[in-house]
Amino acid sequence: MADGFSLSDALSGPGNTNPNAPPNQGWPAGPWGNQPAGPWGNQPAGPWGNQPGAFPGYPGAPGAYPGAPGAFPGSPPAPGQPSSGPGAPPTAPQFGPGFGPAPQPGGPAAPLNVPYDLPLQAGLMPRLLITITGMVNPKPNRFSLDFKKGQDIAFHFNPRFNEENRQVIVCNSMIQNNWGKEERTAPWFPFEAGKPFKIQVLCETDHFKVAVSDAHLLQFNYRLKNLTEITKLSIAGDISLTSIMPTMI
Ligand code: GAL
Repeated sequence: MADGFSLSDALSGPGNTNPNAPPNQGWPAGPWGNQPAGPWGNQPAGPWGNQPGAFPGYPGAPGAYPGAPGAFPGSPPAPGQPSSGPGAPPTAPQFGPGFGPAPQPGGPAAPLNVPYDLPLQAGLMPRLLITITGMVNPKPNRFSLDFKKGQDIAFHFNPRFNEENRQVIVCNSMIQNNWGKEERTAPWFPFEAGKPFKIQVLCETDHFKVAVSDAHLLQFNYRLKNLTEITKLSIAGDISLTSIMPTMI
């Protein structure tokens, strides 16, 4: 890991060996904490591990976002699960537009086009985790994630690579065409030109939490409170996108 620490470091409290790691910012225990083999040990892990959608998704089940497609086509069965024959999980639905390309046999997946709109048909809800992976362009100026309710932006997450020679993350909302009060609380800037990234946005009861490269970065209190009406994630700016995965944790 480029910055040398992980979400499990960030969560591990007194046993933490990384002096730079922030304290646990309340990422849920269970799948997020106390994990045997690094941060992605036993949890719904999107493209990396036990694919949540590899099992038949049903609303409310851990790993299944209502209306989300299931596993990547061809993803391996979870340990102990047959991949076919009696007892096998039903064939996972194919990835629809917006959830990342299927892995290409023998080669990397094609990037998603930016700007990119991900429909979230059931809206946001506590425990919804959206994992976004991609690559920062070689000479970036900015990029943004916008969680939208119609034209309003409930949460604008906007890394700026050169704002008067500084790197800063600006968070805000835009309601009826008016930007609100900016929040610039991120304690460090986790993105680098030309480098891959992983952003995780976790919806909790009162706020979004954002982790980058498995380390908690910031939180943003909900300003638009009706989460189910926030039904789109728009991604734009100086990045390429590899995958976007909504899951329930
Ligand atoms: C504005 C910028 C918008 C948005 C907003 C956030 O200055 O033009 O794109 O980032 O700040 O407060």
